[in-house]
Amino acid sequence: MSKSDLEFHNRLSVAPMMDWTDRHCRAFHRVLSREVLLYTEMVTAPALVRGGARHLLRFDAKEHPVALQLGGSDPAELAEAARMGADEGYDEINLNVGCPSDRVQSGTFGAVLMKTPDLVAECVTAMMAAVDVPVTVKCRIGVDAQAPDEVLPDFLGKMQAAGATRIAIHARKAWLQGLSPKENRDIPPLDYDLVLAMKESFPALHLSVNGGIDSLDQAGQFLARGMDGVMIGRAAYHDPWAILGEADARIFGKPSPVSTPHEAALAMIPHIEAHLAEGGRLHSVTRHMLGLFAGRPGARAWRRRLSEGATQDGAGVELLRQALDAVPEADAA
Ligand SMILES: Cc1cc2nc3c(=O)[nH]c(=O)nc-3n(C[C@H](O)[C@H](O)[C@H](O)COP(=O)(O)O)c2cc1C
Repeated sequence: MSKSDLEFHNRLSVAPMMDWTDRHCRAFHRVLSREVLLYTEMVTAPALVRGGARHLLRFDAKEHPVALQLGGSDPAELAEAARMGADEGYDEINLNVGCPSDRVQSGTFGAVLMKTPDLVAECVTAMMAAVDVPVTVKCRIGVDAQAPDEVLPDFLGKMQAAGATRIAIHARKAWLQGLSPKENRDIPPLDYDLVLAMKESFPALHLSVNGGIDSLDQAGQFLARGMDGVMIGRAAYHDPWAILGEADARIFGKPSPVSTPHEAALAMIPHIEAHLAEGGRLHSVTRHMLGLFAGRPGARAWRRRLSEGATQDGAGVELLRQALDAVPEADAA
């Protein structure tokens, strides 16, 4: 996929989320939108390079355009992991400079790297030398006591000099001591104005804003104010129809692949059948679909039937059809 095609798809992307944006989730999101750019969960470079965990790279051709997110801080190891990802067919390799979890800090990657932008630049340079696909970065506006209006421009300048052309910015700091990863997604205040100002300071960089965006209206406003892209995480996961089911028409000006949530659920059946035929469990797929009818009549019954039934041995697509029957047809349209 060309760089400009990817930039088009990146107008709206689904954020990388550990344990959530696995290949089943991405298959579901792709049923809802043909256009949004999808991200994997973070995969660590040591797991790929030292652990040989190639299975973590598995994805389906239907997922394109799809970006692999890597975690790490060793340039040579990240370069090797990026090469493995590109060989596997990912459209983009993204470096995680935003994740604050303890486990990640102990391995010196994620948000703590905001403190060492020269090392991040070295990593980007090494990754770019290893692959032909774009290398991008997802970062915070700063960590701990850093002053975001000083460190963010410095960080972006170094990324630009290293040749990274696209950056997604989670518009809040990470506090590495005292807050859990979950709290770090809500408690440090959002500073959208700083991110918007960065777009003015770095017009050549393709910048996406991330954090707390929960509607396509809001996404559209950021695009109208000059941002190149909007990245949505939790809202896309919890209310996939409102964000992804309407994204192709509203953000990309393209026809939607499915016209109702009902249709989206039915369109997942081939993926589910293939997964069951490999010995997989229904729940691995349907756990990502629980929010499909969020805010609509029947949503609770759908959720309950699927979450209770799908973990049982032998649960199959019949259960999905039964859960769908619990959603009034009229409300599905
Ligand atoms: C369950 C969960 C897992 C996450 N895992 C990652 C990850 O692997 N890599 C990453 O860069 N960010 C991760 N994040 C952060 C999101 O990518 C995103 O930056 C954050 O949720 C803010 O966006 P939102 O308000 O639209 O959700 C995760 C967030 C959640 C909720």
